[in-house]
Amino acid sequence: MNNFEFSCPTKIIFGIDTIKKIRDEISHDKKILITYGGGSIRKNGVLKQVKEALEGFNYSEFGGIEPNPKFETLMEAVKVVKEGSYDFLLAVGGGSVLDGTKFIAAASKFEGDPWDILIKGAPVNDAVELASVMTLPATGSEMNCGAVISRLSTKEKFAFMSEKVYPKFSVIDPQTTYSLPEKQTVNGIVDTYTHVMEQYATYDVNTPLQDQWALGIIKTLIEEGPKVLREPQNYDARANIFWCATCGLNYWISLGAVQDWSTHMIGHELTALYGLDHGETLTIILPSLWRTMKKDKMEKLAKMAIEVFGANEFLPKSLLADITIKKTEKFFNKLGRKTRLKEYGINPKEAAAEIKKRFSQRNTVLGERGNITADVAYEIVANA
Ligand code: NZQ
Ligand code: ZN
Repeated sequence: MNNFEFSCPTKIIFGIDTIKKIRDEISHDKKILITYGGGSIRKNGVLKQVKEALEGFNYSEFGGIEPNPKFETLMEAVKVVKEGSYDFLLAVGGGSVLDGTKFIAAASKFEGDPWDILIKGAPVNDAVELASVMTLPATGSEMNCGAVISRLSTKEKFAFMSEKVYPKFSVIDPQTTYSLPEKQTVNGIVDTYTHVMEQYATYDVNTPLQDQWALGIIKTLIEEGPKVLREPQNYDARANIFWCATCGLNYWISLGAVQDWSTHMIGHELTALYGLDHGETLTIILPSLWRTMKKDKMEKLAKMAIEVFGANEFLPKSLLADITIKKTEKFFNKLGRKTRLKEYGINPKEAAAEIKKRFSQRNTVLGERGNITADVAYEIVANA
């Protein structure tokens, strides 16, 4: 196991009717800006619950943060925060709202051009305090310090991480997810599946506990995923899926292990170029990436075939790895998700050429062994 350090200051408040608890978590002298997206929280009554909980507090609202939150919109919010001297941001919505809010928090205290946080990895030394009421199980953003931001003008999508943007607390009431459109429920399940895989399916450095945590999340997704689609108001299934999403990207499962975020990095380019949902890009890229990089990922994929899919341990490793790839694709299909670029009306070779060009320009090299070059990325996308 590799050395690691871990600390996460986020308090998780999980369960039925927990939104009202936010009033106990925010100091009364704070000037609060509630941030949200396109209005789902108005329709499903979440905003009303938040406002009831904040009765007597000093707050205003900033709405309109898009899915794949846009730098341009977030900079408008930064202006509001600075001009209004807000000192607490409460993100209410999905991963995009929370990610956007993390960026607003950092950019509001940043000296210089905030785009540098994303493009140059400029250090975030300070941020406005923030917290979340999370309504979509997918990103794990509620318990991590990462955020992914897109820029409309340049069709780019980049991530940043900073300990300064951990939410102070995150409220997760799984009832808020009853109103999710099926497409978003599926996006959340496949995003979680892929997060777990990007931390698990690399090379083995002897982390059996982390591996079992990871595979436990996968088994739970396979059992509970179809259940939430059949019964969208099944509280326990919704709760289990949400906790899978949170634990899928709070980085517990990758402690001391080796990670590979190349499916995400290639997927972000597909979103930036073609506007596909984050979850859609992952189901397209993950199976193709595994086929291309099978030799590197053989041990872990074979172990997963035995532990998760009940395959015979005496089969050759290469066959076992194939079983995991096929079963994963089948699971995505069972959730109603297409796994081929063509099925989204995108020409694979054209997409591959564009991504290769971008990776070459940026000298991007991915993969746990640093061997997913621009040329290998071309092959992965062209075969997706
Ligand atoms: O905008 P509103 O009206 O709120 O509607 C949203 C949006 O249209 C809707 N929605 C959210 N909760 C709902 C709901 N509709 C009904 N009922 C509810 N309870 O769902 C739509 C999608 O929301 P979005 O926040 O975009 O989805 P998600 O949570 O999947 O977030 C995706 C973003 O997170 C980034 C992605 O790249 C993408 O930009 N990621 C962030 C990560 C992180 N911070 O660690 C890691 C991930 O890998 C991912 O990259
Ligand atoms: Zn993701």
